[in-house]
Amino acid sequence: MRKFLRFGTPLSASATKVMLLGAGELGKEVIISLQRLGIEVIAVDRYPNAPGHQVAHRMHVIDMTDGAALAALIEMEKPDLVVPEIEAIATQTLIELERAGKTTVIPTARAAWLTMNREGIRRLAAEELGLNTSPYRFADSLDELKAACTEIGFPCVIKPVMSSSGKGQSKIDSADQIEFAWNHAVTGGRVDSGRVIVEGFIDFDYEITQLTVRALDQSGEAATHFCEPIGHLQVKGDYVESWQPHPMAPAALTAAREVSKKITDNLGGLGVFGVELFVKGDDVWFSEVSPRPHDTGMVTMASQVQSEFELHAKAILGLPVNVELITPAASAVIYGQHEAGAIAFEGVADAMRVPGVDVRLFGKPASFARRRMGVALAKANDVETARSRAREAAGKVTPVKTVQ
Ligand SMILES: Nc1ncnc2c1ncn2[C@@H]1O[C@H](COP(=O)(O)OP(=O)(O)O)[C@@H](O)[C@H]1O
Ligand SMILES: [Mg+2]
Repeated sequence: MRKFLRFGTPLSASATKVMLLGAGELGKEVIISLQRLGIEVIAVDRYPNAPGHQVAHRMHVIDMTDGAALAALIEMEKPDLVVPEIEAIATQTLIELERAGKTTVIPTARAAWLTMNREGIRRLAAEELGLNTSPYRFADSLDELKAACTEIGFPCVIKPVMSSSGKGQSKIDSADQIEFAWNHAVTGGRVDSGRVIVEGFIDFDYEITQLTVRALDQSGEAATHFCEPIGHLQVKGDYVESWQPHPMAPAALTAAREVSKKITDNLGGLGVFGVELFVKGDDVWFSEVSPRPHDTGMVTMASQVQSEFELHAKAILGLPVNVELITPAASAVIYGQHEAGAIAFEGVADAMRVPGVDVRLFGKPASFARRRMGVALAKANDVETARSRAREAAGKVTPVKTVQ
């Protein structure tokens, strides 16, 4: 396990250098936390002026799924740590570079590789670790999908094996919807692999993100810390609201943390993990895990002593972390609503006049209707009040087109 015994001066020969692969709103906050510690930060994304580019020391624009381009950039910049912020990365290249001792990947190159494909992480969780998951099958063609759906039964959920934010995902109730789901998956996936997972639909009471942090303790060993559970609401597989703490029955909370410990122990390394779990009564199902801060965890910017971004920055540098909750809080997403570049936002002051509210605008150079452009954060004495404040504030922020 890597331990930094000293931190250098950025932009000098002594610099401690961290490269973010993906520089969206989550990466931007991790970078701000790293900047506070005098880390030299290199932000990489597939388009210029991504949110994280705007707060880093240097930015690069490359196709991160291009292994040769990624290796060349890492060899040129020689970062001490490579921190993936997204899934769509040439993870085989990261495995090779890590094996050759050329850099350290957060949390590990293997974790980045396993979690970029639903098949890798699902087989590990269900078949190797014996965690409770929804029943599942994989299919490579419409015919295979029909057979798989028959075995799983209805309703079921069909997803490309490589996709995120609900892209290409559909829930279907009967066999006559299979063809639609297949077409939706193969056009909505990230890579044209044409492979899908079918999952039995879990009729859960609620779903949570269990943020789990692996950080070094005083003796230099990785120890596991659990944040309070985060409840969230997903629409079409994309998060629209989250809140913390989500109340849980003691047995369900214990089970959630056991599952989170097992999967993060196996993935290893240091940093924040977002373990997604479905809960019904005392039963818990493992759904998926991000080996990095989670979008629903943006609420921690309002609720915790250290946000998930600060936790990630500190953990990966070998520093101690504090996962304490300060107050119940909630987040509500602000969408772009327009298909346009360089939009503007009105009503920000009105939003901030809602009690307990703060607003983050990500600075994305282009907007589309369902693109996440900002988030409203609200504190309150209870999560219900926090949720309604966050929703109210998000509703007051109005994206507008500007003259180009
Ligand atoms: N098997 C399932 N049963 C019930 N709901 C599901 C199932 N799979 C996904 N969902 C719903 O869709 C959301 C997104 O699915 P997820 O697998 O997390 O995809 P993504 O990787 O795009 O986030 C989940 O948070 C949950 O609300
Ligand atoms: Mg998810």
